[in-house]
Amino acid sequence: MSPAPDGPWLPRRTPLLALAPMQEVTDLAFMRVLEAHGHPDLYFTEYFRVHAHSRLDRHILRSITENPTGRPVVAQMIGEDIERLVATAEELQRYEVAGIDLNLGCPAPCVCSKHSGGGLLRNPAKVDAILAALRSSIRVAFTVKTRIGYESPEEFDNLLEIFARHRIDLLSVHGRTVAERYHSAIHYDRIRSAVERLPCPVLANGNVVSLRTALLTLEKTGAAGLMIGRGAIRHPWIFAHLRHYFDTGTALPLPDSRELRKYIERLYRETRDDEATPFQHVTRMKRYLNFIAPGLGQEERFLYEMKRVREEAGFFEICDRHLRTGETVPAEPPPESVFAGLAALDLAE
Ligand SMILES: Cc1cc2nc3c(=O)[nH]c(=O)nc-3n(C[C@H](O)[C@H](O)[C@H](O)COP(=O)(O)O)c2cc1C
Repeated sequence: MSPAPDGPWLPRRTPLLALAPMQEVTDLAFMRVLEAHGHPDLYFTEYFRVHAHSRLDRHILRSITENPTGRPVVAQMIGEDIERLVATAEELQRYEVAGIDLNLGCPAPCVCSKHSGGGLLRNPAKVDAILAALRSSIRVAFTVKTRIGYESPEEFDNLLEIFARHRIDLLSVHGRTVAERYHSAIHYDRIRSAVERLPCPVLANGNVVSLRTALLTLEKTGAAGLMIGRGAIRHPWIFAHLRHYFDTGTALPLPDSRELRKYIERLYRETRDDEATPFQHVTRMKRYLNFIAPGLGQEERFLYEMKRVREEAGFFEICDRHLRTGETVPAEPPPESVFAGLAALDLAE
């Protein structure tokens, strides 16, 4: 079993529940919405891009400077320029951050081709050098979020040796390689090796969408906690439901479709940017709905109709038609959706 986080920067709870960093999702508005439904113990910002001419992104910075939650926030960086990463970590530490996180997982081709994010995993020597430099300049918690290799899970052993050398305070492992992007099964055995070989707490990440998948992930990995991304967009109650289960051993009932509609409406209002036209805002909402909608409405009609809507009245009319009947929302999304890889979990049982 992975050790629990040991203060002063990180919450000492076990299992620790963290919101995964998600670009253009986990901003101040989304943090506010999550707080209304139950909350993680620890937030991660979306990544700050770091390169020769980068400045701290003001929008992302607001999730630190205006953090409405009272809970710790870790600032994530992505980049490969060692001097700039160190300078940015210094700059970020002038704000109220619980930690600084290095992204070693982003699979986007525009990031990997610049040898940062997941692309860095092709160059373990560079990872080693970056971790050494950051370790000596970070006074808050130093955390790393990684995939288990670039091409193959076999690469992970070597990466673990490197992580073990740098006294990182927390490692989050998305149990896929960069090449596997989001579609494959999660390699729980590799997350377990991180737990067994590193002295720091390990958070397991990937395909946690429900109480069942959370418990299975903890059991298969022995991790100190869970980092949850898309499952929290789909079901913002997930942190409250998991904490309730860990505290009491009993499961809370799932919300019904009316509560889900209220959540979507809250998300719509909170994320509304005064400068966006209704069309732009409805388009932005589709980014969340891709994860919320799978499994809702007969034959995926809810998502089908939402993909075609262009204005606010139509958006809420579709919500009303599909989400007013009060039936319980499905516990998990269908595995043939954007949550591919869930089917593999069932096969593994
Ligand atoms: C829309 C979106 C944006 C993401 N942005 C980031 C990011 O900024 N930094 C990062 O480390 N991972 C990012 N990820 C990956 C997630 O943090 C997480 O590792 C991945 O979604 C798997 O976890 P899940 O199955 O709980 O969603 C992003 C994922 C999604 C779906």
